[in-house]
Amino acid sequence: MASTPFIIVAIDGGAASGKSSSSRTLSERFDLLHVDTGSYYRALTAELLRLGLKPDNLPAILAALPGLQFGTRLNGRSAEMEIGGRVAGEEIRSREVNDQVSHFAAIPELRAALLAYQRGLAGVAREHHYRGLVMEGRDIGSVIFPQADLRFFLFADAGERERRRAGQGLQDQIRERDRIDSSRKTSPLTCPPGAIAIDTTHASLDQVVEQMAAAIAAKLGAS
Ligand code: DC
Repeated sequence: MASTPFIIVAIDGGAASGKSSSSRTLSERFDLLHVDTGSYYRALTAELLRLGLKPDNLPAILAALPGLQFGTRLNGRSAEMEIGGRVAGEEIRSREVNDQVSHFAAIPELRAALLAYQRGLAGVAREHHYRGLVMEGRDIGSVIFPQADLRFFLFADAGERERRRAGQGLQDQIRERDRIDSSRKTSPLTCPPGAIAIDTTHASLDQVVEQMAAAIAAKLGAS
């Protein structure tokens, strides 16, 4: 009997485009390890701010990065990133982190520090006998896993995304973050060629998930 293939699903998109809700639902449905890479950039931002560093202090950031030890803690189906043995808490959603994270994320050396760690999570998913990995972010289908079995790119009207954030009681400069994330030189937010682009502006979570699930099921059926 053929064994079930291990699959990698990449989901990219701007803030509040529907990545987190859909990737969590898909992780349950297909028994995939869930990785929210935005939370990793946020945790790293919170840690650097805690050390008193600002994104424009490049020499100090470069000096600090090698001393940060990344680890992984599994929480349900999610792979959380530890920095120095600790998983960051709610501070990663703070106003200060929202304001600074895109500036830190534009630093190539900081992205390079996370690249191998993120790729290594496919091994963690295999070790723990998941059927695969679903990773969400900005550069997953373009840079981290360009050979992913499925690559999705979610997008939605900015006004609708602001309403979603406000509905969650969160204040977030999503237009400004998207502007910085899309215009940076290293690994900008972009829909990679060949990715399945889904407009979530007027779609319910169920509709988005069903469209993605059908593509995943077709892939599994075909392999
Ligand atoms: O998904 P999020 O809004 O929590 O991500 C926070 C920030 O992290 C986002 O504005 C840009 C950065 N990010 C990135 O540059 N690359 C990723 N793969 C994920 C997030």
